[in-house]
Amino acid sequence: MYIIIAIWIILVYPYTTVHAKCNIRLNTLEDKEAGCTYQGFTSVPTNLPPDIKKLDLSYNRLTRLGANSFHRYKYLEHLILDNNLINFLDAKAFTGLSLLRRLSMVGNQLNVSTSYPPGVFESFQNVSALDVSRNMKTSQHYNIYNIPVGELGILYELSIDLVFNATFGQQFKNLHNLQKLKFDFCHVYILFNETFLNMPENLKEFHMTTCKHFVVIEVGVLVPFPHLKVLNLTNSNIHLTQALTILHPFQHKSMDAILFRGITHGNIKHDLHAVVLTQEMMKYISTICITILDFSDNLIISVKNNSIVSFKHPQCFEHIMVSSNSFSLETWALNLFVYVFRMTNIKMFDFSYFPLRFKNPVFLDAMKENNHTIIQRLEYKGRLEVQNITVTLSNQIHFVRIAHVMGRNGFREIKVINSSLRYLEVSYFETDVFLILTVEGFNSLEHLDLSGISSDITIGAGKIPLFIHLKTLVLKETNLYLVLHTNSSILSLCPNIKNLDISFNYMWKINSLGQLPHLIQLNLSHNLFNDVPDVVTKFDSLTELDLSHNQLTTIRKKIHNWIDTQHTKFGTFELYLSNNPLICSCDTQHFCVGF
Ligand SMILES: *[C@@H]1O[C@H](CO)[C@@H](O)[C@H](O)[C@H]1NC(C)=O
Ligand SMILES: *[C@@H]1O[C@H](CO)[C@@H](O)[C@H](O)[C@H]1NC(C)=O
Ligand SMILES: *[C@@H]1O[C@H](CO)[C@@H](O)[C@H](O)[C@H]1NC(C)=O
Ligand SMILES: *[C@@H]1O[C@H](CO)[C@@H](O)[C@H](O)[C@H]1NC(C)=O
Ligand SMILES: *[C@@H]1O[C@H](CO)[C@@H](O)[C@H](O)[C@H]1NC(C)=O
Ligand SMILES: *[C@@H]1O[C@H](CO)[C@@H](O)[C@H](O)[C@H]1NC(C)=O
Ligand SMILES: *[C@@H]1O[C@H](CO)[C@@H](O)[C@H](O)[C@H]1NC(C)=O
Ligand SMILES: *[C@@H]1O[C@H](CO)[C@@H](O)[C@H](O)[C@H]1NC(C)=O
Ligand SMILES: *[C@@H]1O[C@H](CO)[C@@H](O)[C@H](O)[C@H]1NC(C)=O
Ligand SMILES: *[C@@H]1O[C@H](CO)[C@@H](O)[C@H](O)[C@H]1NC(C)=O
Ligand SMILES: *[C@@H]1O[C@H](CO)[C@@H](O)[C@H](O)[C@H]1NC(C)=O
Repeated sequence: MYIIIAIWIILVYPYTTVHAKCNIRLNTLEDKEAGCTYQGFTSVPTNLPPDIKKLDLSYNRLTRLGANSFHRYKYLEHLILDNNLINFLDAKAFTGLSLLRRLSMVGNQLNVSTSYPPGVFESFQNVSALDVSRNMKTSQHYNIYNIPVGELGILYELSIDLVFNATFGQQFKNLHNLQKLKFDFCHVYILFNETFLNMPENLKEFHMTTCKHFVVIEVGVLVPFPHLKVLNLTNSNIHLTQALTILHPFQHKSMDAILFRGITHGNIKHDLHAVVLTQEMMKYISTICITILDFSDNLIISVKNNSIVSFKHPQCFEHIMVSSNSFSLETWALNLFVYVFRMTNIKMFDFSYFPLRFKNPVFLDAMKENNHTIIQRLEYKGRLEVQNITVTLSNQIHFVRIAHVMGRNGFREIKVINSSLRYLEVSYFETDVFLILTVEGFNSLEHLDLSGISSDITIGAGKIPLFIHLKTLVLKETNLYLVLHTNSSILSLCPNIKNLDISFNYMWKINSLGQLPHLIQLNLSHNLFNDVPDVVTKFDSLTELDLSHNQLTTIRKKIHNWIDTQHTKFGTFELYLSNNPLICSCDTQHFCVGF
């Protein structure tokens, strides 16, 4: 009798309990992973398969990690203990984890001064990434970092809180492989010349992006990092004026990224106000060979003596972002355009949201990753005086956005010659005369966005040439009907497009959009259609049609049949119909569900 019960326990326990609380799966490399988030665990579960390589125990109620907590899981390579209540680590807590590569304990209650006993990281010969940030919710006293990081010989990336009067111990000097240092939770008020003296000098990336209250910075603070390639101070309260002074160790060197977006906040106490850039302020940065420069959102109100174009190595720039500042676009701004567009290697230029700081600007992020740059769309606004300028884009440039600029357009012509420009957005300008876009030789344009500018002065005025490679055309809020009713074959200038967005155009009928044999996605949302226009059935490749926010009451049989045909042909068809006054009938019942 007793024997039978014992067998039951052995059989049932591992297969039901475990699976109820932790999700065991194989990743693409066929490695076993255990996901145990949000399960209320107060201790590390001891019944998971011993050969798991990844264990995620985030969002549980662990408070202490006693000796040998992970003894059973000696194959672990990745351990995540984020967002628990851990405040105690036994010196032997991680014993046995000699294969571990990444450890994350974000959002616990570990104190950089007192919570890490010597030896606690001794098993970690293989750990290259340690994240113990967001643990020190407060910090008001003199704090020494007593973390035995010297035991982490191959550590490459460290994320940690920056505490009040931060004092890093000698052990940090031993992190010979450390390349990335990220601070999250920032409690410093002053960064001294000595603050980072014990940090290893090979550091390549320094990120300090969460300092909400003003930080006074002595000008020698980055001297310990002579090899820095990425300096990311995005959103920390430092003031551009001050940030520019700490760049002196990098004079005449090259850097991948200087990211100073949103670091300037008015500061009466320190007599720091809006920024007027001068040549004196630019004296260090102008000597650096910089690949990515972000000066967006910095209360720059004016630029003296063309100091913004004083860079000695313009050929180094690939990405420049200066959006959302407060300058009015005077002559120097046009000089900036001309200067930027002549840079031989420039790939992206973002100059949007002027002259005011707009409420919800969308910024762009450029990140270098494995030799190519990823641009993430985040958005800009300004003022251009009418001038008669032709700019010729450097043929290296890939991405240009000039959007939300209040004021008159200052260019007569943008010329692209044998260009690799792929993305061009010139949108939301208040302008009477649109620039002329001229193409010579070949062009590679794939994405063109002319939203917010009346189409009768852009595509309707013969200002746009033939774009053979264009895949996406965005013409939101352009009063397109003004052009379509005089020239229904206007889109023949981009005969190969796959995506067309003509939402927000007050259209209630379209007679023709011309031949677009490759069109896959058509966005007609936010118009005034009370019937699905027949033109859609002309597009043999169409598989996505957005008709939301129109006046449709019904879907005609003919359209219905056509959709069925497309669906049969391509195996998919996405139709968006939300926010229409549809009346459910036999005709529309297919479409009534779920709106
Ligand atoms: C580190 O990991 C590698 C690869 O898994 C392994 O061969 C090596 O033995 C590990 N190093 C230590 C000190 O355990
Ligand atoms: C961390 O430990 C120090 C030294 O015991 C103490 O003064 C400080 O208040 C602790 N900080 C937190 C956030 O618990
Ligand atoms: C701690 O920081 C304050 C200012 O925040 C400074 O006046 C003081 O000298 C610092 N103390 C130590 C021991 O570094
Ligand atoms: C900090 O270092 C810079 C040089 O790197 C030096 O000019 C400055 O005087 C130092 N400041 C202090 C307070 O020691
Ligand atoms: C700006 O240029 C003018 C004339 O070239 C010169 O007099 C002035 O000193 C310069 N100002 C600065 C801040 O460099
Ligand atoms: C810079 O910091 C911001 C905020 O933490 C982050 O979103 C961004 O990815 C960082 N940039 C790079 C290039 O790492
Ligand atoms: C990076 O890209 C450039 C240009 O595409 C290429 O010449 C170079 O070899 C690449 N470098 C690496 C490390 O892949
Ligand atoms: C602008 O310049 C072009 C050529 O440089 C000239 O033909 C044209 O008349 C000028 N337009 C105005 C309005 O000055
Ligand atoms: C553009 O490229 C073509 C062919 O590669 C070449 O013949 C022509 O000279 C180039 N034009 C310019 C202005 O560089
Ligand atoms: C309509 O627009 C196309 C493309 O710009 C152009 O080729 C054509 O000549 C125009 N037709 C009329 C009648 O203006
Ligand atoms: C169509 O355009 C609207 C408005 O610009 C946008 O919200 C919607 O997501 C677009 N539809 C699709 C399917 O992308």
